[in-house]
Amino acid sequence: MGELFVAKADEIGDREGRVVADGDLEIGVFRLGDEFFAWESDCPHMGGPVCQGKVINRVTEVLDAQKRSHGFDYVEEDVHIACPWHGFEFNLRTGIHPGDPNTRLRGFPVEVRDGDVYVRI
Ligand code: FES
Repeated sequence: MGELFVAKADEIGDREGRVVADGDLEIGVFRLGDEFFAWESDCPHMGGPVCQGKVINRVTEVLDAQKRSHGFDYVEEDVHIACPWHGFEFNLRTGIHPGDPNTRLRGFPVEVRDGDVYVRI
């Protein structure tokens, strides 16, 4: 068990991330407000570099009682990372795919010490 230095905490903006590597292991560390979350950049779909994807809000389709579409809504509190290979999305706080709770990213603990961000591996 060790740790990797990621960055100074104030160098990572809200909804931004950094990818760090230890050999073949790549980990994306993301900031949401004052919290940090770390996920292995290995997409459960086909192994794509998921942590190099875009950070986006969850999109929901607005339907009326007859199931007619009235456009899309962005859910502010659900922030996702979208894998750049085929677009699978994962919640940045939980690492879970929104449509299948069994499809999830592997997480790592993050620690902020003296203004520096570290991920434990
Ligand atoms: S490898 Fe990530 S969506 Fe396919």
